[in-house]
Amino acid sequence: MNIILLGAPGAGKGTQAEKICEILKIPTISTGNIIRAALKNGTEMGLKAKSFMDAGKLVPDEVVIGIIQERLSESDCKNGFILDGFPRTIPQAEALDAMGVEINKVIDIEVSDEDIVKRMSGRRVCEKCGASYHLEYKKPAKEGVCNLCTGTLVQRKDDHPDTVLSRLKVYHEETEPLKDYYEKQGKLTIVEGQHDIADTTAKVLKALED
Ligand code: AP5
Ligand code: MG
Repeated sequence: MNIILLGAPGAGKGTQAEKICEILKIPTISTGNIIRAALKNGTEMGLKAKSFMDAGKLVPDEVVIGIIQERLSESDCKNGFILDGFPRTIPQAEALDAMGVEINKVIDIEVSDEDIVKRMSGRRVCEKCGASYHLEYKKPAKEGVCNLCTGTLVQRKDDHPDTVLSRLKVYHEETEPLKDYYEKQGKLTIVEGQHDIADTTAKVLKALED
């Protein structure tokens, strides 16, 4: 199954992608994670994306479309995939359609802006492997240390409150119209993501079965 996870920054796309990936045994493709890895490795693409990302803006469409085209051509995507954070604009969705990629389900995880701001301030990520935690809702076994690789947990630069507000603005202006786009294609299911992580997972899995 080819799945898109839509939702505001911090709605829980990455968290839910991790669960679905485990259950359905299909890879997650997160443009945010790919860009952060490129940045860490100092590649040209990573450096180009840095200023946009740090300011809470979207990286230009042609850059992310190129990333996705390359990633989807890899063999592990043959039996399905989960897109986390792509598409994020109408031109990106159109590019995906133009590539002839068939999407089966689009799940939109809805969380209020107020809760998003709260969630982001508590998120911590591993600086080594990128795994994501929360000070209150998804605590690591040992404070400040990644469960998976023992790396140090840090706050993402774009999770500072002012940048989160810019990201939310960009989301409402550029990404939210995708709900209409996929509603018209009959692929959209809206899932309430306001409650705890397990509750959202149950709702996402139910939406995938329907
Ligand atoms: P990206 O990394 O994709 O960031 P984002 O979409 O802003 O989303 P997040 O990763 O912040 O949130 P999430 O929905 O994955 O939430 P999470 O599960 O972590 O992109 C970053 C940047 O890269 C963009 O700003 C842009 O510059 C660039 N970029 C990426 N893709 C692009 C594209 N296609 N086009 C252009 N530019 C692009 O959850 C958040 C926190 O809440 C965690 O701490 C988690 O533990 C906690 N949590 C999750 N669910 C719950 C719950 N139900 N209850 C309580 N806590 C919860
Ligand atoms: Mg994410």
